[in-house]
Amino acid sequence: MNTLFSPITFRSLTLRNRIGVSPMCQYGSVDGFASDWHLVHLGSRAVGGAGLVIAEASAVEARGRISPDDLGIYKDEHIDALRRITKFIEEYGAVPGIQIAHAGRKGATANPWKLGSRHEKVDLSDQDGGWEIVGPSAIPFSETSRLPKSLTKEEIAEITQAFGQAALRSLKAGFKWLEIHAAHGYLLHSFYSPLSNKRTDEYGGSFQNRIRFLIEVTQEVRRHWPEHLPLAVRLSASDWVEDGWSLADSIALSKVLKTLGVDLIDCSSGFIRAGDRYEQGPGWQVALASAIKAEAGIATAAVGMISQAQLANEIILNGKADLVFLARELIRDPYWPFHAAKELGAVTAILPHKYNYAI
Ligand SMILES: Cc1cc2nc3c(=O)[nH]c(=O)nc-3n(C[C@H](O)[C@H](O)[C@H](O)COP(=O)(O)O)c2cc1C
Repeated sequence: MNTLFSPITFRSLTLRNRIGVSPMCQYGSVDGFASDWHLVHLGSRAVGGAGLVIAEASAVEARGRISPDDLGIYKDEHIDALRRITKFIEEYGAVPGIQIAHAGRKGATANPWKLGSRHEKVDLSDQDGGWEIVGPSAIPFSETSRLPKSLTKEEIAEITQAFGQAALRSLKAGFKWLEIHAAHGYLLHSFYSPLSNKRTDEYGGSFQNRIRFLIEVTQEVRRHWPEHLPLAVRLSASDWVEDGWSLADSIALSKVLKTLGVDLIDCSSGFIRAGDRYEQGPGWQVALASAIKAEAGIATAAVGMISQAQLANEIILNGKADLVFLARELIRDPYWPFHAAKELGAVTAILPHKYNYAI
């Protein structure tokens, strides 16, 4: 029977436990470059005992950033600073992962601690450092948001290629786990959700057409990402809105993604429209991960308000998901894996020797 501290293997890679650091934007970059902050932020969570440390949404092109301060992977010059981080993470026993992303119509916003809040989108005008944003259709995120330009088929193909190049750069930077960000209302989600995609060409309309962009991106990424390394996709597994994207859609999509060499679905949800609110509570998205795992026959990660060791362990023990991803709780406590291991009576030698021998 598997527990939170059972190792797990994906392709050639073994994670020491089931705890993943969920990607978290740090808004700590200039022109997309990783900084010392990223080394400390990601590095300390590797030291704290997580099995997998996923770097935040990293833009595949500059206009695909959420804010001007986002991490980027849109040019070769970004690679060196990232390599320093992956080396450190691996040295301390965790697997370094990265989430590659395009913000689409939710791009060009202010860094949330400068203006607004985490889920409030405050657009930047061009004078304030903003840029033209793009999406499936000329439908804004909220009534007051910037109007996105509807992408042409040629532009869709260019962004698909940009995802492939980002995968290649991720590999060169030493990442061993790659996640395509297709959730939270950003570009790929905005194509598969019927709420934001009103296109009439082969990228809109039917389910098959709306998932086409993500399928093409996945194929392109898989072409550049080696066979022996795992690939994950983060979905908003439900829009939680009638007439929106549903869990049944996610199960159907996950079956297709599995045939394309995707190893795990990271099951988040929501955020396709401004103003939507969700009934959140401990483990509130676990049911999505468990349904996709059972019905699409693919490994899943559960995420969302998993803060208690017992809850995290129960999710793994009962086979509801293969991994648990934590975000805010790992901000509060980078040593959460160490504390959880103690609470559960699991392995204790979880910290690096430098610390472990001393306590
Ligand atoms: C500061 C912060 C930044 C985030 N940035 C990202 C991101 O870059 N990519 C992403 O997919 N989700 C992002 N999220 C969402 C988290 O990965 C996670 O799915 C969400 O916070 C729920 O998990 P939690 O309840 O453990 O915090 C972010 C969350 C926080 C708190």
